[in-house]
Amino acid sequence: MAPLHSHAPQLQALGASPSPQSHSSSSHIYNSSSSSSPSTSSTAIARDRLLSISSHLMGSYSPSVFTAGVVPKAPEDPLFGLAKAFRLDKSDKKIDLGIGAYRDNNAKPWILPVVRKADAAIHNDPDVNNEYLPIAGLPSFTSAAQKLILGADSAVIRDGRVCTLQTISGTGAVHLGGLFLSKFHPQHPQVYVSNPTWANHHQIFDNLGLSVAKYPYFSPKTKGLDIDGMLETLRAALPGSIILLHACAHNPTGVDPTQEQWKEIAAVIRERQHFPFFDTAYQGFASGDLVRDAWAIRYFAEQGFEFCVAQSFAKNLGLYGQRTGAFHFISAPGTNAAMANQNIATQLAVLQRSEISNPAAYGARIASRILNDPQLFAEWEQDLRTMSGRIQEMRKGLRARLEAKGTPGTWNHVTDQIGMFSFTGLTETQVKILREKWHIYMTKNGRISVAGLNTNNIDYFAEAVDSVVRETTS
Ligand SMILES: Cc1ncc(COP(=O)(O)O)c(C=O)c1O
Repeated sequence: MAPLHSHAPQLQALGASPSPQSHSSSSHIYNSSSSSSPSTSSTAIARDRLLSISSHLMGSYSPSVFTAGVVPKAPEDPLFGLAKAFRLDKSDKKIDLGIGAYRDNNAKPWILPVVRKADAAIHNDPDVNNEYLPIAGLPSFTSAAQKLILGADSAVIRDGRVCTLQTISGTGAVHLGGLFLSKFHPQHPQVYVSNPTWANHHQIFDNLGLSVAKYPYFSPKTKGLDIDGMLETLRAALPGSIILLHACAHNPTGVDPTQEQWKEIAAVIRERQHFPFFDTAYQGFASGDLVRDAWAIRYFAEQGFEFCVAQSFAKNLGLYGQRTGAFHFISAPGTNAAMANQNIATQLAVLQRSEISNPAAYGARIASRILNDPQLFAEWEQDLRTMSGRIQEMRKGLRARLEAKGTPGTWNHVTDQIGMFSFTGLTETQVKILREKWHIYMTKNGRISVAGLNTNNIDYFAEAVDSVVRETTS
């Protein structure tokens, strides 16, 4: 083996020192450049390798493959970064409008009373244990989740054209659906998502190797739906494209199509033979009415579409951390539809097995109790009205305050939009001032989680928006 000092000139030429002590300091220097793009780091990669080899020759380390030059630092998730900045802010005036989770009038997380009840019943049930669930999940949960989204009397259920797997909340459902489509869609088509959409849609489909395109959705001019732009893009997309649709309470805009617009969207999807992929993360949370919020999905089912649904119970049951969700695949009607759907179920189970083996039990047990017990179900509907009602009150209150102050611009969109989020139209500069001067935190696209507003902070928020809009509008 060559003595270490024989490598020294090469190492020094690359700006490194062969001694173990200086290894740590040079890798520190290196770390600071590691957030630059991977393409700029080829010298750094070579230097890292030489440092690894030198360490190896000294017998002190095994050579590292995954050095900082090979694995650049990923950007921080903007939402989680925002939550951290909020936590560190010491001001007693601070307001968190970033987090996509319901807060009560005291800005605290809310455990739904019906969830507390179901939870207590599970605790006291001697038959509950910690065994694995089946690969497809808890059967009493998956069958109830189907009925909730499609309707108990759905022809799709009656004809055996739907299969359901319990997933790791809505994210897991989008992922499982994307994985299935990436493997089995014969054309390996593009996925079209709304512009803008929940940021994770891009990440999930990108990671699965599906190419993602955007269709226009939000009109900055009307702060409503750009239905013409959307339909035009769907018409121009290659036949058979996958179209990701938010079933209700669109994230981040709070803008939903009307029922008439849904019919137009369905007509274009049919005409172009596209594949609809619904994401439903806010059923019952948007209007307060579970049936109304499922309208678009039930319409597509009645129209005989083949499509899939990613369903989350994070928001409507407040089961965020319990990761409770479901993925449904609905086959088009036809002679062999039930058999085709059974085949699909078997393939989904294989994918599920390799990804998570079997899903998380606790949240599904809670959801199953509530969905299958008429008394608890009625109490849940009341809890949904409490949450959506408080959000609607905050929307009305904010609009009224801004209009009373004569804040430049129009504010009807605050009450026209629906669900947890409002796309306020505030610019990135305005968002920055709100954060730095007023301690108000929201995403830089101007989205607020209306659930972060309450009777204690709404006056301060309206005053801040009014001041910032005037300051930046000449
Ligand atoms: C549009 C949309 N889809 C899916 C999800 C999934 O969330 P989870 O994985 O917590 O169920 C969210 C959550 O914010 C969402 O807004």
